[in-house]
Amino acid sequence: MSGLWITFEGGDGSGKTTQASLLEEWLRASGRTVVRTREPGGTEVGMLVRDIVLHHRGDIAPRAEALLYAADRAHHVATLVRPALARGEVVIQDRYLDSSVAYQGEGRVLDADEIRNLSLWATEGALPDVTVLLDLDPAAARARLDADDKPFDRLEAEKADFHGRVRTAFLALAAAEPDRFLVLDATLPPAELAAAVRERVAGRLA
Ligand code: TYD
Repeated sequence: MSGLWITFEGGDGSGKTTQASLLEEWLRASGRTVVRTREPGGTEVGMLVRDIVLHHRGDIAPRAEALLYAADRAHHVATLVRPALARGEVVIQDRYLDSSVAYQGEGRVLDADEIRNLSLWATEGALPDVTVLLDLDPAAARARLDADDKPFDRLEAEKADFHGRVRTAFLALAAAEPDRFLVLDATLPPAELAAAVRERVAGRLA
């Protein structure tokens, strides 16, 4: 049995974790061995990197930030993902290099191709078999979350603008690699999304 590598991508709060869990349950019930992991932070070294990129107070230079995500990724793919795939297991992963291209690429400092190539260098060209993009309008997501209608302040507006650009970047990545990506409307009921994910994965396992 050969392994299969599935990644979940999308904005914050798009339901990646829920869908990853539903897929994991289904695969385990059908007798597959599943490794559930994430970036940043899928390994011990990765947890240290995650702490820096997500919790460090104050700025990190954009190139340093991109290298930190790539360092996490390099170690994660070499020590966890590739060995699991070689054992014939299914790897289900929250976020991969598409997140770097979308988030670091939309910071307006670094070029998206450079970031992608940096990650491909870090992982010796590793790309998932299936990438599920849970697409969600960040404005709608926010509106659903908080009901009050006070106007955005400048910083909030900037943040909303950034998340809109991240969404556009994810959709462009999906359009460029339709074979790898499955794009789903994240506002659909979770059970419906899970069925669509299962269908794609079942096709690749067959
Ligand atoms: P994650 O752990 O998925 O948090 P959440 O559950 O809030 O989505 O991701 C943490 C953050 O890290 C998320 O805002 C996206 C960001 N990120 C990057 O900017 N670049 C990357 O390469 C990765 C993997 C994540």
